[in-house]
Amino acid sequence: MKLLIVNGVNLNMLGVREPEIYGNKSYNDLVNYILRVAEKEKVQVTVCRSNYEGEIVEMIQSALGKYDGIIINPGAYSHYSIAILDALKAVNLPTIEVHLSDVSKREKYRQVLLTAEASFKVIMGKGFEGYKVAIEEMKKRLGE
Ligand code: DQA
Repeated sequence: MKLLIVNGVNLNMLGVREPEIYGNKSYNDLVNYILRVAEKEKVQVTVCRSNYEGEIVEMIQSALGKYDGIIINPGAYSHYSIAILDALKAVNLPTIEVHLSDVSKREKYRQVLLTAEASFKVIMGKGFEGYKVAIEEMKKRLGE
């Protein structure tokens, strides 16, 4: 099972940005956490990240024929990027959207999850662990 894990805008600022919301750990810590979980779960993952919407679209498009599923945290793009939603719909791979914070309890504009329309599951408010839950859910879905 091969999963593409796509992280979006401002997630490189983890550990610096709003630690009361996102915690003190860095983006590198997140990547290492995901790689450890993947190894334990015997899942192959590629973790990528960009601040640019078009680059995220290209990452998603490139998953076609190479990956069995996508786990994505588009960051703020989640709330308004039709382009990312369309890319996810175009490749039509099983997708899970992850948010570190519980966006359902934050500002009104964060409660709109536009890109999540392409996901069979949305995990929020669990911090780094959300990615672990997403990998487990993806294994269930893909029957491995
Ligand atoms: C986020 C939530 C978004 O609203 C925000 O813009 C982010 C991070 C999260 O993981 O909680 O950048 O996606």
